[in-house]
Formats: sequence, structure tokens, C-alpha cells
Amino acid sequence: MALREIRLEGDPVLTKECRNVKELTERQKVLIEDMLETMYDADGVGLAAPQVGVLRRICVVDVGDEHGPYILINPKIIETDGEQTGQEGCLSVPGKAGTVTRPMKVKVEALDLDMNLQTYEGEGLLARAFCHEIDHLDGHMYTEIAEGPLYEVSAAEDEEEEYEEEASSEDGDNS
Ligand code: NI
Repeated sequence: MALREIRLEGDPVLTKECRNVKELTERQKVLIEDMLETMYDADGVGLAAPQVGVLRRICVVDVGDEHGPYILINPKIIETDGEQTGQEGCLSVPGKAGTVTRPMKVKVEALDLDMNLQTYEGEGLLARAFCHEIDHLDGHMYTEIAEGPLYEVSAAEDEEEEYEEEASSEDGDNS
């Protein structure tokens, strides 16, 4: 497994429509492993193949639920329900976030690693992540549909939280 370079907004690969996977090759299996590693390394909840420069309909999502990583090959949203408006970011637009309205619930059909058709239901953050990643496969970014301007989300906040956690565990050790 290896980390892949995440392409940033402005890279034309992010605006292209991806092609379906017909049969999963060994190279594509390695791609999927690398995508998972790259997503976790960047603290993301999803990553689509074009974000690492590959124009295939493959994406991975992990919102930290009990299911663990979702590996979606040729995914399609087949049902949506409700609406949610909230913060969304993208590993291809580092340090920024925007307000995006998405369905509250979605049903997704996708092939798994064995190329068997699966159906997944997502609600809240999982629904948002499915929509966001599947949009990437059609060359679309959340920045196109964000309501109002994007805003900065500083990595400093995260670092501060991590620091606090470390500090409190240190306290624990001392007591
Ligand atoms: Ni994204």
C-alpha cells in the first residue's frame, strides 16, 4: 500500500466524467487499498478515484460508523429522502469548507470488491459523503453547489484539540 498524491481543485482531472469499472483488475485493487490509506492519512471521510488522478467510478467512504469502510464501485444513488444543510469540505480543497444542502437519506447501489451488487443506506453524514463522492465521479465538486462563500477551517483548531487531549491524558498519568 502507498499514499497517493491528492489532486487539488483546479486540476482538470477533477472535472472529468469517470468510466465504469467492467472487471476489477489487480491494479484497481491496489488503487482501492491506496485510496483507503490516503483517505485515513488525510483524516478524510471519503475519497474518489479522480482525486488521485484515476478516471474510474470508484470511491471509498468511512464516516467512523460500525460498518467500517464502504468501497463503492460504479455507485448509483437510487433513492433520496429529506434534506440536510450543513458544513462540507473536500480533501481537494484543503483548509476550506462550505455550506451544502444534500438529501438527509440516500440509498446507493454499488459493486463491492467481489463485483457483487450491494445496496447501502446512508443517513446524515454518511448520506452527505455518498453524494459528495459520487459527484466527484461525474467531475463535480461541492464548491459548485455551496451556498454562499467558502470559509476557512484552520487545521490549528484540530491541532489544538489534539493538544488538549494529550494534555488531559498527561494529567491522568500524573494523578
Ligand atoms: Ni471531495
